[in-house]
Amino acid sequence: MTEPGAVVVPPLRSPAPAPTPARLPRLDHVAYGGDYNPEQWPKDVWDLDHEAFDAARITTVTLGVFAWSLTQPAEDVYDFTVLDEIVQRAADAGRWICLATGTGALSPWIARAYPEVTRVDFQGRKHRYGQRHNACWSSPAFRRLAAGIAGKVAERYGDHPNVVAWHVGNEYGGDGGACYCDLCAAEFRAWLRERYGTLEELNEAWCTTFWSHRFTDWDEIEPPSALTEHWKDRRYTAFQGITLDYRRFSTDNAIRQFAEEKAAIRAHSDLPVTTNLMGFFEPLDYHRWAPHLDFASWDNYPPRSDEPWRTALTHDLVRGLKDGAPFWLMEQTPTVTASRDVNPVRRPGVMRLWSWQAVAHGADSVLFFQMRASRGACEMTHGAVLDHSGRLDTRAFREVAGLGAELERLGDLVLGGRTPARCALLVDWDSWWAVEMADGPNRLIGYVPTALSWGRAFWDAGAQLDVVPVTADLSGYDVVAAPLLHMVKGDLPARLRGVAERGGTVLTGYLSGRVDEDDRRFLADVPGPLAGLAGVRVAETDAAEPAVGNPVAFDGGPVVDGRMVFEVLVPEGAEVMARYRADFYAEAPAVTRHRVRAADGGEGHVWYVGTQLDQPGVTHVVRRALARHGLLGPYAEIEGLELATRVTPSGAVVDFLLHHGPAEVTVPLHAAGEDVLTGRRYAVGDRVTLRPTDVVVLRRDEPTEVAVPG
Ligand code: GLA
Ligand code: ZN
Repeated sequence: MTEPGAVVVPPLRSPAPAPTPARLPRLDHVAYGGDYNPEQWPKDVWDLDHEAFDAARITTVTLGVFAWSLTQPAEDVYDFTVLDEIVQRAADAGRWICLATGTGALSPWIARAYPEVTRVDFQGRKHRYGQRHNACWSSPAFRRLAAGIAGKVAERYGDHPNVVAWHVGNEYGGDGGACYCDLCAAEFRAWLRERYGTLEELNEAWCTTFWSHRFTDWDEIEPPSALTEHWKDRRYTAFQGITLDYRRFSTDNAIRQFAEEKAAIRAHSDLPVTTNLMGFFEPLDYHRWAPHLDFASWDNYPPRSDEPWRTALTHDLVRGLKDGAPFWLMEQTPTVTASRDVNPVRRPGVMRLWSWQAVAHGADSVLFFQMRASRGACEMTHGAVLDHSGRLDTRAFREVAGLGAELERLGDLVLGGRTPARCALLVDWDSWWAVEMADGPNRLIGYVPTALSWGRAFWDAGAQLDVVPVTADLSGYDVVAAPLLHMVKGDLPARLRGVAERGGTVLTGYLSGRVDEDDRRFLADVPGPLAGLAGVRVAETDAAEPAVGNPVAFDGGPVVDGRMVFEVLVPEGAEVMARYRADFYAEAPAVTRHRVRAADGGEGHVWYVGTQLDQPGVTHVVRRALARHGLLGPYAEIEGLELATRVTPSGAVVDFLLHHGPAEVTVPLHAAGEDVLTGRRYAVGDRVTLRPTDVVVLRRDEPTEVAVPG
């Protein structure tokens, strides 16, 4: 048996990338507009487009995202005739421009001249020319050509007065976010040498003695694919260490390619550079990427329309990439997507509601994909501000124009505003990857669904939440949730202890504290380096199909269901908060809470939740933690009514009330102020009625003291 707390976490193999401050485009309003690809239709339509944009108060267009085959039709030929006209036409109309390098899709000639630019997929198939987002990031030809066009674009338009930002590539990733070609294999080996120095160190890290894998030459190492270590999909590997490192390598490889385009831009322009991320995108670790972005941006295409907490949490994740600074909402559909099998249209008011939700969570832009619908190819039915008819009397256009007028009224009020969060949820791609590629105890545990369940509990309690990496400074938070903290790295245990010793509350639980940075088990009781802090150890771990619940009874509280994973807990200092009701471990502790002595003589709390509680269970735990710190929001009991707050650089507090719920509600207002959208004044306690999709943007009267971390 090990002493609780005696587990030593090895130092990080490479230090966490140092954060870099955010630098946003120099606009004096929330950028409003979106992707605009007029190179796809005749020029006489362009005039109609811009007239319509004026009517909708469109301020900003993203140009050139897929223009590479026009701007460089052959290796030695650059042709900016069309892009020049598009840029100038937009500038003449007074539009600000986010200009893309256009490297998200290859041109046919590139693949023909340099077959290396197409990827080898996870199955080992060498791809031929087609589609997009599928270049090999190790290909010297792709790297040279991509940086080349990025430099040319920046050289040509860098001084253009209307260009305000650079958009590199598009939605980096593609199928699995990795390539498995020989060039990538060579780059991977070089990356491994850098990380481990010696094969001995690598063999140790990967536990290669298991199944006779000791490597004696770097060239023996293969990318982990369906041809090598994997027997099913990307999550089923014989060696977690190899697979984990391939994901880290692939992320770094993508970042290198992005950074090369960025450097080529920098030779000509100092304007901020971004790339449009995809929220909880599993293949690429955005926390490693973040320091390379001048500002973060992402594309919001929620899979369902009835999970507002998902979008809220994803905005919070993206905001967390730049330490809470505002980000850009780079894409959302004004009406409908096309890529799903079934594509329901956004209901009236929903686009507006979701746009305000983005602003409420820190977006300094509301941008659409797309301004006018493509004429042909796979996205011709994807929604747009203007459809193929160009009519201005469509519901979509009217809603877009309505929002344009509201954003104009908002002006610069929230620009640069930050979220006054006292709560944080830790997200870590390494833990995500490791827990989902673990054999046992339950393959059906999902990292994002778990984060969503916890995020939802904060969201519907009305607590402002930051989503931060495990390297973040936690000293500004009262409540820190770390669900599925499978991998424990660096000095995180000490920082979590710091939260408790300041009197804060830490929430963690099942499958946490299991492995180190190399995905090797701690030679200790579970939860390893968290055991001392949580005052608990896990005696054994059971698993069950999702349909099987084990009732979990809270002492003096609700009886909820636990599912999927059932850790039998043995308190070692912690108190028992809930017990299992069924099976051979009935009456064993399922949830514990450790009271930790705080520096000021008070106490901090560390909860350990040993099973995947259903939503009411998670909500119960989170609300108890929030209540302890006075962090339950004023509308915590109102279904679907979201409250999100931004504090502007000048100290103004702006509250956004966003009604996602199904029924009209009337609530007493929590603060006095003016609704920016209607000019209506409210006193504290005034009753305000919100119908479904209604929004109130309340500028509080008093420059209330609201602390903002970071
Ligand atoms: C993504 C891409 C766009 C477009 C939209 C359609 O976000 O970046 O080019 O394909 O999806 O939903
Ligand atoms: Zn490759």
